Amino acid sequence: MAKQRIAIIGAGPSGLAVLRAFESARRKGAEVPELVCYERQSDYGGLWNYTWRTGIDEYGEPVHGSMYRYLWSNGPKECLEFADYGFEEHFGRPIPSYPPRAVLHDYIKGRIEKSGITHYIRLNHTVRWVTYDSDTDKFTLAVKDLTTDNVTNEVFDYVFVACGHYSTPITAQFPGLDKFLGRTMHSHDFRSADEFAGKDVLCVGSSYSSEDIGIQCYKYGAKSVTFSWRTKPMGFKWPETLDERELLVKVEGKKCYFKDGSSKDFDAIVLCTGYANHFPFMEDALRLKSRNRLYPPNLYKGVFWWSNPKCMYIGMQDQYYTFNMFDAEAWYARDVILGKIALPNPGAMMDDIQKWTTMEENVKDAFEAIDFQTEFVRDLIAPTDYPRLDVDEVARMFKVWEHHKSENILTYRDQAFKSTLTGTVAPVHHTPWMKALDDSLETFLNQPNARAAE
Ligand SMILES: Cc1cc2nc3c(=O)[nH]c(=O)nc-3n(C[C@H](O)[C@H](O)[C@H](O)COP(=O)(O)OP(=O)(O)OC[C@H]3O[C@@H](n4cnc5c(N)ncnc54)[C@H](O)[C@@H]3O)c2cc1C
Ligand SMILES: NC(=O)c1ccc[n+]([C@@H]2O[C@H](COP(=O)([O-])OP(=O)(O)OC[C@H]3O[C@@H](n4cnc5c(N)ncnc54)[C@H](OP(=O)(O)O)[C@@H]3O)[C@@H](O)[C@H]2O)c1
Repeated sequence: MAKQRIAIIGAGPSGLAVLRAFESARRKGAEVPELVCYERQSDYGGLWNYTWRTGIDEYGEPVHGSMYRYLWSNGPKECLEFADYGFEEHFGRPIPSYPPRAVLHDYIKGRIEKSGITHYIRLNHTVRWVTYDSDTDKFTLAVKDLTTDNVTNEVFDYVFVACGHYSTPITAQFPGLDKFLGRTMHSHDFRSADEFAGKDVLCVGSSYSSEDIGIQCYKYGAKSVTFSWRTKPMGFKWPETLDERELLVKVEGKKCYFKDGSSKDFDAIVLCTGYANHFPFMEDALRLKSRNRLYPPNLYKGVFWWSNPKCMYIGMQDQYYTFNMFDAEAWYARDVILGKIALPNPGAMMDDIQKWTTMEENVKDAFEAIDFQTEFVRDLIAPTDYPRLDVDEVARMFKVWEHHKSENILTYRDQAFKSTLTGTVAPVHHTPWMKALDDSLETFLNQPNARAAE
């Protein structure tokens, strides 16, 4: 019988988790299907693969990257650590809890390089169209090699959609915005905070992008930053030149008017208004349609496309947990494909989806959202051989992180956490985050005065 074939769309942390999961089974003696991972960028690592480009890339493709220079982890690394490949193993020693982007990219790539599984990845290949044929029970992927401009069709038994969901901007419209006498952009196109030194910046939105882009701008010398909220303010204790106002209602010249009746002149408006799920390459019957939520619809176990579970989505949740949650999803899906876990009938799958959806709808705040996602991850890893992940300790650390942010939004990244893998407490970084303007891997890892936290 011909070997079964699995397509993986995207070589970010989610797609790489699938590769690693199968490699782990292969090393334990399992017969593993043929794997092909398509990645449209010229390197793997997903969003962590920084690009200065915005708009379209050198091939005329939409730029995937939403990460900016000077982006540091916004949660402790101890909460996202792979259970099968710790930071200490990768870097050869303990490193501080909040690494900059380049350090996390190095860590993500390190696991894949050390496993010797990069050969499964076809870089510069974009998946154009995915269809399913019920007669053959197979998927056909139209894939374009961006370097040769050739499109080929390939047939697979399973498809993993691991293309991420933080790349297509949701924008907002405000009267007069089109005539604003300053710079307007979405957070997807934000790259370098230095550009805003000496400027008055308005960030629309009250979630992670707004918070972090605003404090980045402050760190790199913005004159002032105003955050404008729609549903509720972030409520942090802001330094003097940062403030929060109700929603922007109109723009006249450089002046922005807010719902609370106040107004102020700005040099730049950054729409930090989130990202749309956008999978234009999936045929309608297979396409996930969801807002950014903890439990996207029609995905059994958050992974299996209910009406056709051979199509699987990885990493589509709103994310507290990231890398190790993608692993949990990948390990579970792998075991279904390898016949170690049986999927229930469609009715039972839908009942389970509804159970989790109801639980999600009852989530009231960030702390309950952390608990929800903790249960989600626990449920996935329980029947698999994913190495022990102490999710209760991870949940506890997430909650401490929330408290650190409430105490001081400018210093929470100076805190240190203990690895659940090694028990080692991270050293405190040599430079407080607010003063650490150089975010290169070399500077971060150069720890002359590192000391273990008490
Ligand atoms: C600005 C920003 C900051 C973030 N910061 C953090 C953080 O500090 N800590 C944290 O844990 N998480 C953070 N995240 C969350 C982030 O979503 C995850 O860390 C992680 O990158 C998600 O992995 P992924 O593989 O699901 O998606 P992605 O990282 O987006 O990777 C998807 C990959 O699929 C490829 N792809 C897409 N479409 C196609 C196609 N049609 N054909 C072929 N390839 C395709 C893309 O090129 C990309 O390489 C951040 C997200 C954003 C937007
Ligand atoms: N490492 C880092 O520091 C870092 C930095 C940035 C982003 N991230 C990650 O990136 C991901 C996405 O975060 P995100 O903040 O971009 O998206 P998000 O969490 O989905 O939040 C979107 C925000 O936009 C607001 N919004 C949407 N439409 C609006 C409108 N028409 N008018 C006003 N406000 C509107 C929403 O307000 P409502 O609440 O009213 O809906 C919400 O505050 C997260 O996983 C996050 O962790 C990480």
